[in-house]
Amino acid sequence: MEVRPATPDDAAAVSRVLAEIVVAKGAGVDGAGVEGVGVEGDADFVRARYIDHPARVACTVAVIEGEVVGLQSLKRAWDGNPYDVPSGWGIIGTHIFPSAARQGVGRDMFAVSRDAAAAAGLVSIDARIGAGNAGGRAYYAAMGLWTRREPDDAVCKRYDLAPPQACPPRNASCRVHPLATRAWTIALPGRAR
Ligand SMILES: CC(C)(COP(=O)(O)OP(=O)(O)OC[C@H]1O[C@@H](n2cnc3c(N)ncnc32)[C@H](O)[C@@H]1OP(=O)(O)O)[C@@H](O)C(=O)NCCC(=O)NCCS
Repeated sequence: MEVRPATPDDAAAVSRVLAEIVVAKGAGVDGAGVEGVGVEGDADFVRARYIDHPARVACTVAVIEGEVVGLQSLKRAWDGNPYDVPSGWGIIGTHIFPSAARQGVGRDMFAVSRDAAAAAGLVSIDARIGAGNAGGRAYYAAMGLWTRREPDDAVCKRYDLAPPQACPPRNASCRVHPLATRAWTIALPGRAR
């Protein structure tokens, strides 16, 4: 398997992957969370939504024996994004050809996206999964994402790139306030700063 950045020439192949997921969902196969996805040949949709998106941080395709079998998109959240993701976070989406599922494609692409997120200085990565999509939830949980909120019809999971750091343990004057989102350093009376 090859995992590489998507190019505009991949758009038609990716649209076939998306269409196949929609078909699988219609057939009752677990998975699929591809709202608004078009039909085969809708390459313009794929280019606009993923490959050429201005907020793209990484857009990765997986290729097996010359065939594109999956896409993972990572965008930087912009003000007013429709997913209600805070600015400075990443927005991730994953779509894998049903017959290529459970072969480690998603795992390999997430490793690329996670590294790209870290390099881009993103704070966290957010994934929005349809409430009925048990496979999608299990996948993101296996990648280390945890549930941050559950709006009506979805589950929003989060992966933290840079968790808050506690003070170095050797600093005896350090205390972490239980309500603080980051460490507070409190100088004890009589100690040199
Ligand atoms: C969900 C999806 C992204 C998973 O991709 P994948 O390539 O099959 O995932 P991987 O093979 O890399 O699996 C990695 C781990 O995730 C978990 N996992 C993945 N799919 C799972 C499923 N259907 N059920 C339970 N666990 C699953 C497993 O822990 C798995 O490790 P294992 O196979 O060693 O047990 C893929 O099936 C898909 O594109 N589905 C349709 C669209 C979708 O639901 N996208 C995500 C939500 S929007």
